[in-house]
Order: sequence, then structure tokens, then C-alpha cells
Amino acid sequence: MHPVIARAPTFRPQTDSYAVTAEFYDILQAEADERRVRHLYGREVAKARVGVLDIGAGTGRVTLMSLAESQADVYAVEPARAMRTSLMTRLAALPARQRERVTVHPHALDEAALYAVADVAVCHNTVACLSPGARNALWHAIGAALVPGGSLFLQLPPAQLPARTILRVLPEQRVGEHTYGGRMVMSTAGNRIHTRADYWVRGAEGVLREHTETFWMWPASRAQVIDDLERHGFVPLPGHDDPAVLAVTLRSPW
Ligand SMILES: C[S@@+](CC[C@H](N)C(=O)[O-])C[C@H]1O[C@@H](n2cnc3c(N)ncnc32)[C@H](O)[C@@H]1O
Repeated sequence: MHPVIARAPTFRPQTDSYAVTAEFYDILQAEADERRVRHLYGREVAKARVGVLDIGAGTGRVTLMSLAESQADVYAVEPARAMRTSLMTRLAALPARQRERVTVHPHALDEAALYAVADVAVCHNTVACLSPGARNALWHAIGAALVPGGSLFLQLPPAQLPARTILRVLPEQRVGEHTYGGRMVMSTAGNRIHTRADYWVRGAEGVLREHTETFWMWPASRAQVIDDLERHGFVPLPGHDDPAVLAVTLRSPW
């Protein structure tokens, strides 16, 4: 018998966001996203010497790529149980020597108590769904988790509210006798973007099941995000011009 370590209940309760999406996330998006994260962040994580921080690790795309590209320890931060389940399944399939370099933190980053653990942080496809208040807490926590001089590579949220409804159809995928499909429908609602994710599974006889999950997104321009990050001690890193990604570095205190 192992004693249960009692902790003050300071953490927010477990979130069930992504409870629907997790089932469809990898089958509909993993292949394209895998290439994308390697292209966007592969060279940067390869330079890590202290550690790599994957903020909003999801099902593990950036985490797995970082373990392959870098020799440094990896910190995968993922609060949603459904997404973390896929992440853990992926990690379980790794050789033990690779797995011992990655630690999974089942909280939002601002609750993970990570201090000076990494010199490279990646935050891919995560910030868009955080409210301005949650972003503020995140910037502060990233500043604490990085060593001075460490860098953050961040996929930017949409720059503005959509003028009309946007439909993004995910390419259908075959699994045995079934076809999996999905689409995102994004529309403006006040100062936020209402995002409805619809998923379906079809068999020979027609639609077998359908599911929907709703997300909210807050737009922010690149300049706004840079301003916010500057207030938390970050400065833009020159030489990174991908319009979807912002690269910043944490100022040294000296
Ligand atoms: C859209 S998913 C993207 C997952 C992964 N980065 C990818 O691109 O495949 C965003 C993830 O961020 C996580 N997340 C949300 N707020 C977070 C926070 N404050 N700290 C860390 N992760 C967070 C969510 O639980 C979710 O799994």
C-alpha cells in the first residue's frame, strides 16, 4: 500500500473540455499537424539544452516531435483528461529511454508550479481558446517556467473577428468499414468567436453517429500579443517571419 499524498485543493477542478473532440482529433488532423509542427518548431526544439515545455500538449504532437528532435527533457502540460488520455497512450508506446525524458503535468500551466525548467517553450494551437484573463496568467507562468534567455514559440490566435461565418471541413478518413469526418463552423458572437466542431461517423447504411462540441476563441493581433508579452518580460526574437507563429525571448534580469 502506498500512502496517498494529501494536497490542499488549490487546483481548478478537472475540465471535461475536449471530451468529444479527443476521439476525433488524431484521426482527422494528426497527419497534417505532425508535418506542420515539425516544420514550425523542429529546428528550435533541437537547440534546447535545459528542457522543452509543451504548453497545451493535447494528444502529444509537439511532445513526441520534441522527444525525437531534442535530447533535452520535455515537460508536457495538459489539463484536459480526454486529450491527456491519448497523450499517455502515445507515451506508453515509446521505448523506456525516451519516455523517461518526458513528464506530464495534468494542469493548466499556471497551476503546474514549473520554475526555470526549459529554455524552449512551444504553445501550438492553444492560445486562441484562452480568455484574456487566462492568457495573462499563462504569460506569467511561461515567464516562470523558462530560464532567462529562453524562447517561446507561439501559434497566434485569429487576428480579428470573422466578418462572415467561416466553414473549415476536415478531410474524411477511412477506418475499416467506417468513414470519420468533421468540420468547424466559426462565427462572431460579441467580442468572441463561437466555434462549433461537428463530427460524424458514416457506415454503408448512412450516418451512424454525430457529435458536437463548442469552443470560444478570443481574437488578438500580433501587435497586441507582443504588447502583452512585453509586459511579462519577453521581447521579439528576430529572424522568425512565419505569419502564424510569434517567437519571443525572455529578457535576462542582468
Ligand atoms: C486545441 S488543443 C491543441 C493541442 C496540441 N497543442 C496540438 O496542437 O495538437 C489545446 C490544448 O490546450 C490545453 N490548454 C488549455 N488551457 C491551457 C493552459 N492554461 N495550460 C496548458 N494547457 C492548456 C487544452 O486542454 C487543449 O488540450
